[in-house]
Amino acid sequence: MSSQAPMIEMRNVDKRFGSVIAISDISMKVHRGEVMCLLGDNGAGKSTLIKTLSGVHKPSNGELLVDGKPADYQSPSDALDAGIATVFQDLAMIPLMSITRNFFMGREPTVGWGPFKRVDWKYADRVAMEEMGKIGIDVRDPSQPVGTLSGGERQCVAIARAVYFGAKVLILDEPTSALGVKQASVVLRYIAKARADGLAVIFITHNVHHAYPVADAFTLLKRGSSLGTFRKDEVSREEVLNMMAGGAELESLDAELSEFQRNEQHDDEITEGSLPASAAHGPQSSGARLATGY
Ligand SMILES: Nc1ncnc2c1ncn2[C@@H]1O[C@H](COP(=O)(O)OP(=O)(O)OP(=O)(O)O)[C@@H](O)[C@H]1O
Ligand SMILES: [Mg+2]
Repeated sequence: MSSQAPMIEMRNVDKRFGSVIAISDISMKVHRGEVMCLLGDNGAGKSTLIKTLSGVHKPSNGELLVDGKPADYQSPSDALDAGIATVFQDLAMIPLMSITRNFFMGREPTVGWGPFKRVDWKYADRVAMEEMGKIGIDVRDPSQPVGTLSGGERQCVAIARAVYFGAKVLILDEPTSALGVKQASVVLRYIAKARADGLAVIFITHNVHHAYPVADAFTLLKRGSSLGTFRKDEVSREEVLNMMAGGAELESLDAELSEFQRNEQHDDEITEGSLPASAAHGPQSSGARLATGY
């Protein structure tokens, strides 16, 4: 890790909504070329944390720093201008608009000037296709509506857009949660690429198989508070899984499932043992025996 200032840092940040304390006293740092995975149950405050980082919410208390300098954003576009790009859980894309339009949304390249100024769609189409191609997505027609892309491809448009416009920090709120194995791996590969390009990445997921391979560190949230940050070499995959789900709950689920399995096995043994005898009485009586036995 470098001795440079963290790319993004939170110091003792609180966010309250009226009487609800969504996050409390959060301190967290992410450096260049590092993936920080945010873990925590539903309602733990993960989305609130990243919305506070990306200018959607103003912190009720505490400080944000970007590249070592205090940041005080009034809006998400302020944060975006400072290089903090966020792909929200409720993906901000317009399904009926084309890939190119979604890619450039609000930042269309223009040609000409004065009254002759117009959007350069030819150039825009070419860039959108090239950028998608770089991450291995072959767009045949950039005028294709985004709504016709698969979930993974749509996530990739959002990420490619962020990287193209010079993001320094990439924040991803559950980008892989609705994806199949193959598509999730496209997104994960892209996260790894963003890290290799020197971006600081904050990645939220509930899936340990997605988190563990790409993360350098994990921060665990519980009911709005941080339970700490762990470097990858300090924790095993099982420990991360426990952190995600709450260890105690998993253990009791484990016990319940093995009890269930034992009962089933027992069931099978009885069925097998009783079959020859019951076969003599025909299938009906064997069914009756089982039904009354259990
Ligand atoms: N705008 C808001 N107004 C009031 N309460 C809010 C608001 N946003 C979030 N909260 C509350 O803050 C808490 C944390 O919510 P948040 O969405 O950050 O959780 P999360 O960790 O992202 O959960 P999930 O895994 O389900 O996405 C919840 O109790 C939620 O109800
Ligand atoms: Mg959330």
